Amino acid sequence: MKTINLKTKQQNHPIHIGENVLTMLPGILETAKTGQKIAIVSNQTIWELHGETLLATFAESDYTLHIILIPDGESYKTMDTVQTILDTLIEKHFERKDVLLAFGGGVIGDMAGFAAAIYLRGIPFVQIPTTLLAQVDAAIGGKTGVNHPSGKNLIGAFYQPICTLVELSFLDTLPKKEVLCGLAEVVKYGIIGNTGLFKYLETHSEKIATLNIKDHHRLWEYIIRWSCGDKATIVSADEREAGLRENLNFGHTIGHGIESASHYTLYSHGEAVALGMKAALELAETGRLLDKKSTKRMTSLLKKLGFKTKLDSSVTTEAVIEGMRTDKKIRNGKLRFILPTALGTVVTIDDVTMDDVRIAVDNLHA
Ligand SMILES: NC(=O)c1ccc[n+]([C@@H]2O[C@H](COP(=O)([O-])OP(=O)(O)OC[C@H]3O[C@@H](n4cnc5c(N)ncnc54)[C@H](O)[C@@H]3O)[C@@H](O)[C@H]2O)c1
Ligand SMILES: [Zn+2]
Repeated sequence: MKTINLKTKQQNHPIHIGENVLTMLPGILETAKTGQKIAIVSNQTIWELHGETLLATFAESDYTLHIILIPDGESYKTMDTVQTILDTLIEKHFERKDVLLAFGGGVIGDMAGFAAAIYLRGIPFVQIPTTLLAQVDAAIGGKTGVNHPSGKNLIGAFYQPICTLVELSFLDTLPKKEVLCGLAEVVKYGIIGNTGLFKYLETHSEKIATLNIKDHHRLWEYIIRWSCGDKATIVSADEREAGLRENLNFGHTIGHGIESASHYTLYSHGEAVALGMKAALELAETGRLLDKKSTKRMTSLLKKLGFKTKLDSSVTTEAVIEGMRTDKKIRNGKLRFILPTALGTVVTIDDVTMDDVRIAVDNLHA
């Protein structure tokens, strides 16, 4: 078991990573002097697979548990669903010290976190992420929120959990496509700052590419620890995204364009980000920020891990560019890009031209 501390101005937000970490939960709640009521927000898929494990954690304690199951899927990450969570909290007379626990992937975590942030102006919140993406990314950093018909994550709040419990064995049931999705963020941490992680991914690429976490817990524990540590360090230094945190957008500007252009169906977020990283590497190389050898090394890791590095012809360059226009990362009409200058080092470039981007996206089709 390993504990990483995410530090904000107010306090420490520990992240416990390993096997059987849920056993720590009653002790953590006791130390935090929370109330006796706990609302668990999850969905049917996760609850059927792992609900019993979570319930067993509370077998010896006398908390009153309320299970709120919401339908599975990004399309339910809405104000309406938040409203149903709030309705239950009100109906069950939740008070200031009572707890809201998110048990699921990023969708559940973002939404439950937002409900916790706004109910009575904030009640204690615990994150138990069950997807790789949520364990290495979404559940860490305190960004919570929901989608709006006009765009993703348009409504939200920064709200930190009192702790995050990253239980490896939950990933044993995760479909491979979801593993691949989280893996893109892992590669991102390697490229933007963690050369040790990047080399580890290179060395173990064959095993990792099987996307079989169940039989390789130790390997994945390293990967998750490193990734969580990186995100926690970045967020601790820049909680509100005034600077450093922006580096986490590497691969995401074009990635979001691809997701939008393919109507969020053809590619998962991770696959789109992998393509976005490939295009960003090319932008860096054409802009003479990055040498050919490094570009090749980073792109070839993406390939080895099983990411598609060619964009489907049905997703046109113009549609990708159009999709990028609604991105929050565009400031004053200019495109800001996080681009690598070497393995483990990135810079922000805010005068990338549309033509450069067009060529880079065009080349994804080649
Ligand atoms: N807050 C942040 O900083 C942040 C960062 C990145 C992404 N996000 C958000 O995260 C969301 C995506 O999260 P996600 O990729 O975890 O998707 P998700 O929450 O939709 O989970 C993916 C699928 O896996 C299922 N699942 C979850 N755990 C499982 C398990 N252990 N075994 C089997 N199936 C399981 C879910 O029911 C779902 O069908 C998006 O809404 C995105 O905006 C937030
Ligand atoms: Zn991402």
